[in-house]
Amino acid sequence: MKKIYFAIATMTAMSAAISLASADDQANGEKLFKSKCAGCHGADAAGKPAVKSPSIKGKTADDIQKVISTSSKHAGLKSLTTDQVKQIAAFLGTLK
Ligand code: HEC
Repeated sequence: MKKIYFAIATMTAMSAAISLASADDQANGEKLFKSKCAGCHGADAAGKPAVKSPSIKGKTADDIQKVISTSSKHAGLKSLTTDQVKQIAAFLGTLK
């Protein structure tokens, strides 16, 4: 029985976390994107051939975490918190 309660609690916590991708997150994410990413990825996240940066529209928080930990171009971004990365992803998800 305990396991079932745990599973339900976990699912409730997860759906709460998903619904947290609110308008506030997107607005914060847009600010962070403009100050930390737009210089290389362009104001619309479409990428800049001049610095060989790809489009990052629609990238997820996982994609961003991965690039921060593996790409030397993103070494300066290690100070971003997981929440900030999620906010940036929430904003990138609004771009088409
Ligand atoms: C100094 C320039 C620079 C900055 C600042 C920068 N990027 Fe990048 N980014 C690049 C370049 C160049 C690449 C491609 C080569 C690589 O991955 O190192 C890239 C690749 C990526 C990729 C992988 C895309 C793919 O399709 O593989 C993601 C995701 C990404 N950047 C997200 C971000 C986010 C989010 C920020 C801001 C928090 C950011 N970058 C800031 C230059 C930059």
